[in-house]
Amino acid sequence: MLAPAHADDIPNLKDPGMISAGSQLFQETQCAYCHGQGGGGAIKLASRSDLEPAYIFETIAEGRAKGALRMPSWRGVLTDDPIWQATAYIMSLGKP
Ligand code: HEC
Repeated sequence: MLAPAHADDIPNLKDPGMISAGSQLFQETQCAYCHGQGGGGAIKLASRSDLEPAYIFETIAEGRAKGALRMPSWRGVLTDDPIWQATAYIMSLGKP
């Protein structure tokens, strides 16, 4: 069972190893298909200062919809560790 994300459980998202693992995951799964290489696509993730780690984690785990666009839930595909790696990568894109 995967527990919901609590602030206490958040690993060190500034760890370069986590960020590079997340970067790889982002290209290898379909994230880049919708969000663009480096998160600069139509559904933009780069240069965002409003994204919080717990929100990013929950979005990846549960999915999200905007109008007709639907992001699938990745729970069942990815375990907590890779979801946090992707979160670390997305947080690293937030810095302009
Ligand atoms: C089929 C297209 C699609 C795929 C594949 C996809 N997403 Fe998304 N993603 C979306 C849509 C649509 C939204 C909602 C955008 C909004 O609400 O503005 C979204 C939102 C997000 C958000 C929150 C952004 C915001 O503005 O609230 C994050 C973070 C995110 N996706 C990360 C990922 C990651 C990581 C992956 C790969 C594991 C991924 N997405 C795969 C379509 C996709």
